[in-house]
Amino acid sequence: GAGVAADFAAHFAAYVVIGNPIAHSKSPAIHARFAADTAQDMRYAHLLAPLDGFAATVQKFIAQGGRGANVTVPFKLEAYALANQLTTRAQAAGAVNTLIFDDGLILGDNTDGVGLVSDIVRNAGFDLAGKKILLLGAGGAARGVILPLLEQQPAQLTIANRTVAKAEELVQQFQQYCAQPGILSACSFADATQPFDLVINATSASLQAQLPPLAADVFSPATLAYDMMYGSQPTVFMQFAAAQGAHVRDGLGMLVEQAAEAFFVWRGVRPHTDAVFTALRAQL
Ligand code: ATR
Repeated sequence: GAGVAADFAAHFAAYVVIGNPIAHSKSPAIHARFAADTAQDMRYAHLLAPLDGFAATVQKFIAQGGRGANVTVPFKLEAYALANQLTTRAQAAGAVNTLIFDDGLILGDNTDGVGLVSDIVRNAGFDLAGKKILLLGAGGAARGVILPLLEQQPAQLTIANRTVAKAEELVQQFQQYCAQPGILSACSFADATQPFDLVINATSASLQAQLPPLAADVFSPATLAYDMMYGSQPTVFMQFAAAQGAHVRDGLGMLVEQAAEAFFVWRGVRPHTDAVFTALRAQL
C-alpha cells in the first residue's frame, strides 16, 4: 500500500558508490555531510557489485530508481564502457568515476582530475598557470588528471614513467588538448633532473611503500610535492620530498574534492568541503 511505498521512498538511496570491495569507502559519509551542508534531501549508500556483475548491478539500480553512482576500483573502465554518453573529461581520462542516470540515458563523467586541481589551486592556494609540472606515472591515475592540469595552462607538463613508452603514448593522446606544442613531454625518471614547481605522484608505488627512482633535484623549497595517495602517515614520496625542503600534500583533499564535484554534477549545488576534510583527517 501507500505506506509501504512511502517507507521505500524514505529509505531508498538514489545515489550509491559501487565497487568491490566497497565496505570501507568513505564516499557515503562524505556525501551525507554534503547533503546536510546544502540542505539536500538525498540518501547515498554503499553498493557491492560482484566482480563479474558490474553492468547488471547498475541496470538493477537504475530500474529501482537510482539517479547517480560513483564508481571505484575495479570498475572505472567498465563504467566507461557502459556509459552511452561521456563528458569530455571522462573521454580524456579513459575512465568513469561518476554516473548520471537520466531518463534511460547513462552519462559517464570523471571528477578525479578536477578534484586534484581544486585541491591544489583552491585548498592549497597554489596557482598552476605558467608553472612547470612533473607527473609521475602513466597508468589510469595519471591519465585521469592530465586534461584538468592542462586546462590550468602550465608552462610545462612532463610525464615521467618507469616504462617510458607508456608516458610517450599519453603525450601523443593528449597533444590535441594542448594550447601550444611543446607543453607536454615524456621522460624517464633518470631524465627528470630539473626543479619543478609541482611534482605529482600518480604511480601506485606508495601503495607498496616504494619510492619512484626520483632525483632529489626535481624538488626545491618552492616545490609542492603532491601524492595522490593518503593515509595516517606521510608516504615515502612525501618524506623524500620534505627532506629536500619541498612543501608536501597527500591525496585526501583530492578525495573530498572529486566527491564535491560529483555532488555538484548530480544536484547543481556546490557543498563546502573544509569541515569534511578536517573530519576525515581526524579519522585517519
Ligand atoms: P593506477 O590505476 O593506480 O594508475 P596502473 O594503471 O597499474 O595503476 O599504473 C601504475 C603506475 O604506477 C604505472 O605508471 C607504473 O609504472 P609502469 O608503467 O612502469 O609499470 C607505476 N609504478 C608502480 N609501481 C612503481 C614503482 N615501484 N616505481 C615506479 N613506478 C611504479
